[in-house]
Amino acid sequence: MDVKNKVLHYLETNKGEVVSGGKLASHLGVSRTAIWKAIKSLEDSGYSISASTNKGYSLSSQSDILSAQSIKPFLNDKTNQCEILVFDTIDSTNKYAKKLAQDGAKEGTIIISEHQSEGKGRLGRSFYSPSGTGIYMSIILRPKMSAEHALLITTSTAVAVSKAIEENCYLDTQIKWVNDIYSDGKKLCGILTEASLDFETGGLEYAIVGIGINVSTSENSFPEEIKNIATSIYPHSSRRSIRSKIIATIINNIFDYKDKLGCIEILNEYKSRSFLIGKEINIIKGETQTPAVAIDIDDKAQLIARLENGQIVALNAGEVSVRNA
Ligand code: BTN
Repeated sequence: MDVKNKVLHYLETNKGEVVSGGKLASHLGVSRTAIWKAIKSLEDSGYSISASTNKGYSLSSQSDILSAQSIKPFLNDKTNQCEILVFDTIDSTNKYAKKLAQDGAKEGTIIISEHQSEGKGRLGRSFYSPSGTGIYMSIILRPKMSAEHALLITTSTAVAVSKAIEENCYLDTQIKWVNDIYSDGKKLCGILTEASLDFETGGLEYAIVGIGINVSTSENSFPEEIKNIATSIYPHSSRRSIRSKIIATIINNIFDYKDKLGCIEILNEYKSRSFLIGKEINIIKGETQTPAVAIDIDDKAQLIARLENGQIVALNAGEVSVRNA
């Protein structure tokens, strides 16, 4: 790590606290001039650092610039070795993560961007990813599991995200099977899991878990086509310095659940947050919409629905919408 990143790491770990230039210099084993240069360079990169002659430097507690250094203080023993790469802008974090995974990047490599120019959603859709008001991240996993259980990666990620939002933002969210997170009947997060199959073993070679969360995107700034169906965690206030902590909590939760995919504890959490169970839905297949009632989620995370003729069906992919919503 160069001096600038070391200083940033220290300031992020002690955000809002004042540290003297001398203490910082001796802690990092560099000169005070090197510290001063690093502070100037951080300020040039947009960091809000107050400097007072007698006391020292302090990173504003409102600072919300994403970096590996801003996220790492909140990681736990299991996750603090994750490699975190943060971009100002990128086409799609999933696309980049896929490239890295194909080149052999290890599990726990995480790509984050402040903005995406070609954010991808499910079913070929795009994911609106404006700068600075959201979380756009992709995690490379290499789970030892057969492809038929891959849906469980998405469901456990949905629980990981829903819990992280609840814990950090005190907001109750619901999970709309299979990959969307809702608040007040509107979507605030989408998850896109893409996997590569190892044909020799029939297992997964890698999985890319892509997570997009609207954190402080104001409701009237969403594009026309999603204005009525999208929301964010803080739709009415300016951005808050919470994104790094949400990201770290999600990473911690995902790695906590990773070895227990499909276990009853996670499925129960998923079900208890379900946006669909008990609701009248349409099962969408191409141009066809079949009315049904969502009645349960089974232990493979399939949505169980009752059709109007009484037939019970289990869905493991595709899309449903809530009727009269
Ligand atoms: C959906 O709503 O259908 C899924 C949206 C997933 C969006 C995230 S943002 C980070 C990652 N990179 C992408 O291009 N897509 C996912």
